[in-house]
Amino acid sequence: MKGVILAGGLATRLRPLTWVTNKHLLPVYNKPMIYYPILSLVKAGIKEILISSSPDHSGQFANLLKGGSELGAKLYYSVQENPKGGIANAIGMAKEFADNEKIAVVLGDNIFNYNLKPAVEKFVKKEKGAIVFGIRMSMMESKHYGVIEMDKTGKVVSIEEKPEEPKSDIAQAGIYFYDSRVFDFINKLRPSPRGELEVTDLNNFYLKEGTLECNLLDWWIDAGTSHDELLRANNLVAEKVHKGEL
Ligand code: G1P
Repeated sequence: MKGVILAGGLATRLRPLTWVTNKHLLPVYNKPMIYYPILSLVKAGIKEILISSSPDHSGQFANLLKGGSELGAKLYYSVQENPKGGIANAIGMAKEFADNEKIAVVLGDNIFNYNLKPAVEKFVKKEKGAIVFGIRMSMMESKHYGVIEMDKTGKVVSIEEKPEEPKSDIAQAGIYFYDSRVFDFINKLRPSPRGELEVTDLNNFYLKEGTLECNLLDWWIDAGTSHDELLRANNLVAEKVHKGEL
């Protein structure tokens, strides 16, 4: 299984911090934001990782991370030329890199301490399918994300992108495992009303097929959504690092 970290986009919500700097290079306590998803994948045994970023910043990622050996990874780089293409568009660009292997996709601003290793070990043995990761929060908050509805047995019933009336308190985190058919599904996607190829639409292909699973995280933060979340991420990460939990 290979890893793909998405670190492109314009990060308009974090301006003026992001006029010049890519948001995934901003500090979160004692490391640049992008370190956290890289280290999460490495901990799960995924060493070959593609970093997808924006044309203006790809050189800075290479300057910072180089070949990846300091973090225990072997890094590759790609450039998403259309920053408004959406998450599924960026995943689609990893086809050659994936080379028919399954992939674990992590958004570059997602920080968590969940150990992905057991899920990776289980997923590589599966014939086909996808895994999404969810996190419980209040419905007032979950509606700002993809919202995952599960039945009592843990089966995923629906996933809706930022619904006005969320059907559950489970938000879709930016961590996704896909089999090698993901690129065929991406080719079938059409842009959403916000003009992007949505990861939620992609996940719905697997949901309809009955091969989508959801694992729940206990702690997760999307550090890139606002200045307040970035500040919260800095404080929470500092606390976790001091306690030896991250
Ligand atoms: C994206 C996804 C959304 C997911 C979120 C996690 O939202 O579309 O389903 O819950 O990432 O961070 P965006 O950040 O593009 O608004």
